[in-house]
Amino acid sequence: MRMETPALDRDYAAAFPRSRQLYLEAQSLLPSGITHDARWMEPFPVFVERAQGAYKWTVEGRRLIDYWMAHGALLLGHGHPAVTAAVAEQLERGTHYGASHRLELEWARLIRELVPGAERVRFVNSGTEATQLAMRLARAYTGRPRVAKFTGHFHGWHDEAVSGYKGPYGVTATTGVPQEVLSTTVALPVGDGDALKHALSRGDVAALIVEPSGGGWGAVPMDRDFLHLVREETGRNGTLLIFDEVITGFRLAPGGAQEYYGVRADLVCLGKIVAGGLPGAAVAGRADILAYLEYRDPEWNRTKKIAHQGTFNANPVTAAAAVATLRQLRNGEPIHRADALCRALGQGLNRALAATGVRGCVYWQSSMFHIALGLDAEPSPAGVPPRGVDPGVLERLSKGAETLALRKAMLVEGVDLMRSGGFLSSAHTEQDVEDTVAAFQRALGRLRREGVL
Ligand SMILES: Cc1ncc(COP(=O)(O)O)c(C=O)c1O
Repeated sequence: MRMETPALDRDYAAAFPRSRQLYLEAQSLLPSGITHDARWMEPFPVFVERAQGAYKWTVEGRRLIDYWMAHGALLLGHGHPAVTAAVAEQLERGTHYGASHRLELEWARLIRELVPGAERVRFVNSGTEATQLAMRLARAYTGRPRVAKFTGHFHGWHDEAVSGYKGPYGVTATTGVPQEVLSTTVALPVGDGDALKHALSRGDVAALIVEPSGGGWGAVPMDRDFLHLVREETGRNGTLLIFDEVITGFRLAPGGAQEYYGVRADLVCLGKIVAGGLPGAAVAGRADILAYLEYRDPEWNRTKKIAHQGTFNANPVTAAAAVATLRQLRNGEPIHRADALCRALGQGLNRALAATGVRGCVYWQSSMFHIALGLDAEPSPAGVPPRGVDPGVLERLSKGAETLALRKAMLVEGVDLMRSGGFLSSAHTEQDVEDTVAAFQRALGRLRREGVL
């Protein structure tokens, strides 16, 4: 549902006139004028033409404090000098060799050094490809047909990932996927141990894939104890556990969610940060599972081996950005800096809610924060999410009309939220945090005056 915000819409149109013009052009070229569903917004999205550090500049020249950070891919911020230099140097040496090269070894070595249990690595081009390959590996390894996941957990847009990621869960999240394919994935309710045990005990589930910090990049957090139960039950039933660490990898800790929660997965899907802000991703994990990608004797190759291609897998330019990024992250310092800034931001945003008397709660984990406007819950100084709130409520609030109106108001105030929250990077500053809190307070005032809050 769209909320009427005429004054805000006027200010938005006045702030971003060239974006509006470009959007009109875009509509005749691109479906809905966009290239990713998440970039759709009413009345039009902003167009950006450069970015540096914690900021991006729209085509109008307006500076925005950026909390998208390339959908979470840029933990070091835009244009980190080490990453830019590595990419520039690689461009001189060629963008694609159609051959093996040293940087892919260096990239894989860094992943193995940092990610627990990453005995082998296969590179792909996106998080979507990573989860698809991990599922295929699990099916090949176990000989079982089905994959289980949790409702509200997002694992990319391929056919086998789209069951139950968008409520209401009884209705298919997208058209265009055959029922036969949808029925190979079972979507389980989060936190329900009995449903989990029942689904796995049937013995036909090859893998359970999870967003370890919770659905929607942690908007609907998952209980640590439940994650341990998931590990226990998958192990007991011969089901592989796949951690989709496209978001959490190298963000929660250098070793991602496995290190953070002390839970070891069988396969890990890595995306975003792993590729240093360029297109790239990976599946890492147990050597005996990734062995299904190996060439052996002709009989095995024809009947057991998994087929897997990909023109741009581990292309040298991405590999250069990735290696430069992972080298920076190795000691955990940029991660800790982003975490500390996120804590300060979350606390500041909660103070702003209290000061304006607006109902709501901001919670965070590591360097990801979520704003749940309208939620009646006591904010925690440590950022832990409100306990006992129905996951459906959190999911709805994170996509609600108030949230969309807030994003628009924040853009007018010079801040680009990733819908209901965002990602901090090590390039953000304490001043950015202060400026964001002040912008939030002004944005809440705007929404109040519009009668939205
Ligand atoms: C948890 C998770 N898995 C998979 C994906 C898909 O990754 P990509 O957009 O690179 O295909 C995303 C994307 O945001 C994600 O958040």
